[in-house]
Amino acid sequence: MEKKLNVAIVGTGYIAHFHAKGLLDQENVTISAVCDLAVDKAQEFADKYGVADVFKSHKELLQNCACDAVVLCLPNALHVPVALDFIRAGKDVFIEKPLGVNAAEGEMLKSEMNDQKRIIMIGHMWRFDGQTQFVRAAVADGKIGEVVKTKGCGIHVDWGPEGWFTQKKLAGGGALADMGVHAIDTVRYILGDPQPESVYAVVKTCFGKYDVDDMGMIVIRWENGTTSLIESGWWHPHADGPEASTQLIGTKGYARLYPTSVEIPLEGKEGREITSLSAKDEHCDQPMYSGQMAHFVERIRTRLTPCPGIDEGLVVQRIVDAAYQSSETGEVVRF
Ligand SMILES: NC(=O)c1ccc[n+]([C@@H]2O[C@H](COP(=O)([O-])OP(=O)(O)OC[C@H]3O[C@@H](n4cnc5c(N)ncnc54)[C@H](O)[C@@H]3O)[C@@H](O)[C@H]2O)c1
Repeated sequence: MEKKLNVAIVGTGYIAHFHAKGLLDQENVTISAVCDLAVDKAQEFADKYGVADVFKSHKELLQNCACDAVVLCLPNALHVPVALDFIRAGKDVFIEKPLGVNAAEGEMLKSEMNDQKRIIMIGHMWRFDGQTQFVRAAVADGKIGEVVKTKGCGIHVDWGPEGWFTQKKLAGGGALADMGVHAIDTVRYILGDPQPESVYAVVKTCFGKYDVDDMGMIVIRWENGTTSLIESGWWHPHADGPEASTQLIGTKGYARLYPTSVEIPLEGKEGREITSLSAKDEHCDQPMYSGQMAHFVERIRTRLTPCPGIDEGLVVQRIVDAAYQSSETGEVVRF
């Protein structure tokens, strides 16, 4: 009989609900405690999911709760500092995307994780979506040949977030750190996780009054020769597709995620062989988040490195850092 795992959730806002449901979908997993600065909100959350202990701060939770692992659902600037406290206390940690606010703090966390022999997983959840996996498999099977270029986006159409998301001090960045990271990690996963070679970007604030970006065009050159264009944004009047939608141009065909299809021109005659998947009922659906928690729980039990782990989170974070730097200097950033 496998050991029962006690998992705590820190931050009980929007995304924490998906993770609570995801954890409750797993066998022999209990959500033993939650905490939030807004303690009434944490109590309501605890009542909804049957959580025994409620705390106001993660330090209080650490002192009073014997959990094995923790799921961090906090503003980005708190990801690494709070993760460090849990890692040093011997806990495994799931961190919502993005890893943090810069790669330097991520490297520090990685070093501590290695010293303490802990598991860290980063919430790049599109890797757990069936349609993303379908496109990745088609590319890996060589169905569209060599992928020469891609275009993907993470854009909110006609809306944008408020509160801490729009404050650089708490969020680290704007739409690029919030939405662009989904498109970056998704295309990297589909391409088989290549390393980036260089980044050129224009990242600006065009739609709102805040100190973070809401418009980004990022060009990534990967070591395998593919070039990716990523668009990030909030409040845009148009986007080519929903969050993480990606198009891939290959030497033998075309693939697309959301709407999802693989199209291969027929040899020697007109027409195409088209394989399409039907649209999902809900774009960001619970099975994707539950699959993500299943992987986290499995890696806690087996002690194998999760994927996406800290290395995948760091690659995305380095690209984000490079995009902000490139936009500031007008130069290409080479890794
Ligand atoms: N993967 C996804 O689909 C997805 C979607 C939304 C958000 N996110 C990520 O999840 C994280 C949280 O986003 P959200 O939308 O849930 O935000 P949110 O504002 O809804 O929730 C954050 C919660 O953290 C609490 N909090 C703030 N500081 C705290 C502290 N020091 N100690 C304890 N609690 C504190 C707030 O009171 C709030 O309840 C962000 O990193 C975001 O990028 C991921």
